[in-house]
Amino acid sequence: MTDPQLVLTERVQQALAAAFGAEYSDADPLIRPSQFADYQANVAMSLSKRLRRAPREVAQEIADRLTADPAFPGTAEVSGPGFLNIALDDSWIADRASEILADPRTGVGTTTPPQTIVIDYSAPNAAKEMHVGHLRTTIVGDSLARTLEHLGNRVVRQNHLGDWGTPFGMLIEHLLDIGEDAAIARLEAGEGSEYYQEARAKFDSDAAFKQRSRERVSTLQAGDPETMRLWHLFMDATIRYFDKIYSMLGVTLTDEDIAGESMYNPMLATTCADLEASGVATMSEGALCVFPPGFTGSDDRPLPLMIRKSDGGYGYATTDMAAIRYRVNDLKVDRILYVVGADQALHFRMIFAAARMAGWLPDAVSAEHIQIGMMLGADGRRFRTRSGETVKLTELLTEAVDRARAAIAERGYDEATQNEIAHSVGMGAVKYADLSVSHDSEYIFDFDRMLGFTGNTGPYMQYATARIRSIFRRGGADPAAATGPITLGHAAERGLALQLLGFGAVVEQAGALAEPHRLCAYLFDTASAFTAFYENCPVLKEGVDEATRASRLALCALTLRVLETGLDLLGVPVPERM
Ligand code: ARG
Repeated sequence: MTDPQLVLTERVQQALAAAFGAEYSDADPLIRPSQFADYQANVAMSLSKRLRRAPREVAQEIADRLTADPAFPGTAEVSGPGFLNIALDDSWIADRASEILADPRTGVGTTTPPQTIVIDYSAPNAAKEMHVGHLRTTIVGDSLARTLEHLGNRVVRQNHLGDWGTPFGMLIEHLLDIGEDAAIARLEAGEGSEYYQEARAKFDSDAAFKQRSRERVSTLQAGDPETMRLWHLFMDATIRYFDKIYSMLGVTLTDEDIAGESMYNPMLATTCADLEASGVATMSEGALCVFPPGFTGSDDRPLPLMIRKSDGGYGYATTDMAAIRYRVNDLKVDRILYVVGADQALHFRMIFAAARMAGWLPDAVSAEHIQIGMMLGADGRRFRTRSGETVKLTELLTEAVDRARAAIAERGYDEATQNEIAHSVGMGAVKYADLSVSHDSEYIFDFDRMLGFTGNTGPYMQYATARIRSIFRRGGADPAAATGPITLGHAAERGLALQLLGFGAVVEQAGALAEPHRLCAYLFDTASAFTAFYENCPVLKEGVDEATRASRLALCALTLRVLETGLDLLGVPVPERM
């Protein structure tokens, strides 16, 4: 363990137990960064009531216990009304920094035992457009997948595509009307939204088309081979468009990870029958419903989760009930993350509650809705183009790359290099903007801000990383060969080293809480600590003695590794130079 806050937490807990009894060994010592020392422990204030002693006295007793141990790596002093200020020894910080530099995992632990984690993310609908909301669930979900995998877990990516339902009747009939080749070409080009609207318009105005579409739904549901062939044509072309977006973004999602709604079709009848047989679902006004306790509508009446409509049709909830059972029984999950829009919060709370009632979701399995906040336009409303249409994602992503290319145009790179950098910077900007704010908050999609080279942005983080690489290039040194030893002289060296020790803890936290923005904030602080170090502590300059240079190069190498690893866990690419 190298994270100073975790080390101090443990130490103070031991001191608490020694001073006040074993029952205090798991009290939270409330270790926080301090402006007067490295950290402060605030626990004495809250314990004083329970102990009926003055806070300063309690703090003093903890300090005495801490420092009585000759191996305590720092000093502890009481201050103010009962704070405990703790400063760590330089040698301790330097040794831990050398330790994580030598550790191929850079201080990031592994989950023991490893968990099997389903991450349900991206999940666009084939019968509607893939919109910016799906962009965000794709990016956040992908970062969670990378992070949890890096922590040693078995991650099962599940792209719960909306690829089934009654709209497919009219979508297939429209495909027949415009011709297979034309339909495929348009779907591949991302015109699914217009295609859907055309089909819808005919459905509403043309009685014969409506009739054909209805019949097509029946033949589709019956699995008629020719209808299935057409459905596959439609879906394959649509998926090729989704794949274009995935490959532009560089996300780890592949076609193997598609587990769309249609996959659960064969399970839906038994899903309903089993829920009915066990009494979890009951008939209500002709529909089969689960009424999970604690859910009521505005009129105080129990809220139904409808799993079979009165016409016998299945819906979104039926599929999710089948999916949860499949994930628990067949995939043997320990944890399921649903990275889906915040507006579906009620749906998932009801699904989880119903699955618990049915015994399909054991207490040991955690099901979490990772709520994705809405993406807004500059006007603060739902993100759309100026003319009010939804924005085509390939165009949006291409614009990000074009703007990035313009921003670096004057740097004199050859065309191929420029294109490569522009792609990394454009995608990095979009992804980092999604990841750096908490996933459940709404945020404004703003190219100028996300492409800025200062502040907590993708380009800034990429630049900070590329700059360290260039230090090694200029010095003719290999980061892998910069092994120290690390010694600390200047305050900025100490500050940087202390910051770097927290990497493992923040990665674990980002995974445990499913909050990539914590990792972003940490990396941003790391880049800032590096800037302070680099401004104050020359590395390559003449006159720097050899031991100091070796130590500073090692700090550069460790910072580089932390930034590269961290950005990789976010899925943000780093160009070699910028
Ligand atoms: N297709 C859905 C949508 O676009 C998201 C599906 C999320 N996953 C799930 N298991 N319900 O809103």
